[in-house]
Amino acid sequence: MAPSAALPEPNPSAVPAFYQATLDALPSCVALIDSVGDIIAVNAAWRRFGEENGLADPAHGVGRNYLEICETARHPDGAAVAAGLRALLAGAPGPFRHEYECPSPAGAAWGRLSALRLEPPGLPAPCVMILHDDVTARREAERGLREIAAGLLLAEDAERRRIGRELHDGVAQQLTAARLMLGRFAANDGDPATGPLAEAANVLSAAIVELRTLSYLLHPPMLEPLGLAAALRQYAGGFSRRTGVAVTLDIETPFPRLSAAMEIALYRMAQEALDNVHRHSGSRRAEVALAVDHGLVRMTVRDYGAGLADGSEAGGAGLQGMRLRLQELGGGFRLADARPGLVVAAELPAPSSLFHSAS
Ligand SMILES: Nc1ncnc2c1ncn2[C@@H]1O[C@H](COP(=O)(O)OP(=O)(O)OP(=O)(O)O)[C@@H](O)[C@H]1O
Ligand SMILES: [Mg+2]
Repeated sequence: MAPSAALPEPNPSAVPAFYQATLDALPSCVALIDSVGDIIAVNAAWRRFGEENGLADPAHGVGRNYLEICETARHPDGAAVAAGLRALLAGAPGPFRHEYECPSPAGAAWGRLSALRLEPPGLPAPCVMILHDDVTARREAERGLREIAAGLLLAEDAERRRIGRELHDGVAQQLTAARLMLGRFAANDGDPATGPLAEAANVLSAAIVELRTLSYLLHPPMLEPLGLAAALRQYAGGFSRRTGVAVTLDIETPFPRLSAAMEIALYRMAQEALDNVHRHSGSRRAEVALAVDHGLVRMTVRDYGAGLADGSEAGGAGLQGMRLRLQELGGGFRLADARPGLVVAAELPAPSSLFHSAS
């Protein structure tokens, strides 16, 4: 949002030499505006930016009104920036910060505007110092990290499901066959119900139940064939039996099928949120609600327990994983204090093209 249109009248810096030298020493592109938004000084980095980008104004914007420049710029953030600067000039405490995307032939570039209100001696008060910094490298690094983290989550999902299927279809089947054989031996030998063969069959039965539970947690069997609503109903039932936490489900019927990525993200979110209810909240009940509303899929998990202690959400990988999964799909996630308890709320955009059938 540096000034771009040509200006015929050059306007020299109107600030004392000491201030100008101080501004010139800053690496950011800096402009100083007065109480009505007129640019009264710019620094060396600002001038260099103008020259390198072929901006034709020989005064580099000095004398022009920065608020008007923002408001008439074709940039979508122009109005928001002007409003933020006007608020500062009107006395808002600030600083005002805004990150914006700059169209560039070399690809997306990102800038950060920081503005602070000053009343320096020797200058018309108040004035606002505006600094522009190139934050493209940081933005790209953040995007790269998000992509890597999201890729890791997807790989983890795929691996969990693979191990879950293997356990179910391999080891659990073999143990079931062994238990059947033991049962037959026990019957043929006249082994009593408390005899060693029957006891071995009981141990095998317990191992099979544990393996099946583990395999089902790793690989939700209903999700792919029947969709999110059915998988959540099944999961909630098993979760209540295992933990004693009563789960109430409020799911629109019929609930549409979503993309596989959305279904697994929401399923894992419910799994993690319910796990947190059991492990951290102390609540004996939880509610899971799932609905599609105005093109958004909304899911909430609520409990009636201790609620979130200050700063505690930063500790684990569960909530961070939820946030990442949802962000990756263009959605969001928030935690709300429900007094008593906590609400974990997710939203994902659900364009109608994503629906392919109803369950
Ligand atoms: N429903 C809840 N009620 C109270 N506190 C919660 C709840 N959910 C999360 N928390 C708090 O937020 C913290 C972070 O949760 P998160 O799921 O990210 O990590 P975790 O459960 O501790 O570990 P994991 O990485 O195994 O999920 C928890 O340690 C807990 O202090
Ligand atoms: Mg957790």
